Amino acid sequence: MNANPQTLGWLNRALSHELSAVQQYQAQSVLAKLWGETSLANYLKQEAVGELVHAEMLMEQLIMLGVAPNASALAPARLGRTVDQLLLANRQLEWEAIHIYQEAVLHANRVRDTGFAALMNSILDDERVHLTELERMISERNNHG
Ligand SMILES: [Fe+2]
Ligand SMILES: [Fe+2]
Repeated sequence: MNANPQTLGWLNRALSHELSAVQQYQAQSVLAKLWGETSLANYLKQEAVGELVHAEMLMEQLIMLGVAPNASALAPARLGRTVDQLLLANRQLEWEAIHIYQEAVLHANRVRDTGFAALMNSILDDERVHLTELERMISERNNHG
């Protein structure tokens, strides 16, 4: 992988997203715990850790390229007054993640950086799994009213 400035831009953009996702899942986990929704709180905390692992993969790549990670401002955590609102906020978050990684893959293919493409595709696959899981939880709640 070379240190193409646009590639570094995508790595830092993705890192900002992942750290924002950590903040959102972690804050929602705290909120769910306060509501007494223990299993939801545990699920949300696990998700926060999953996003932290993505942040670590991106940081590792930046550091291997000789660049200090430089995430920009975190997005505010989106909370809610109900479990459904939390799930919808997280679906939005995962849509945003998928959009970022799809664009990053297009960039990787344009500059023919196969290593970068592989990293972006591997995180993209994880985000698709997150979205599928959220869609499942949302439709389950709709069906059981
Ligand atoms: Fe992620
Ligand atoms: Fe995710």
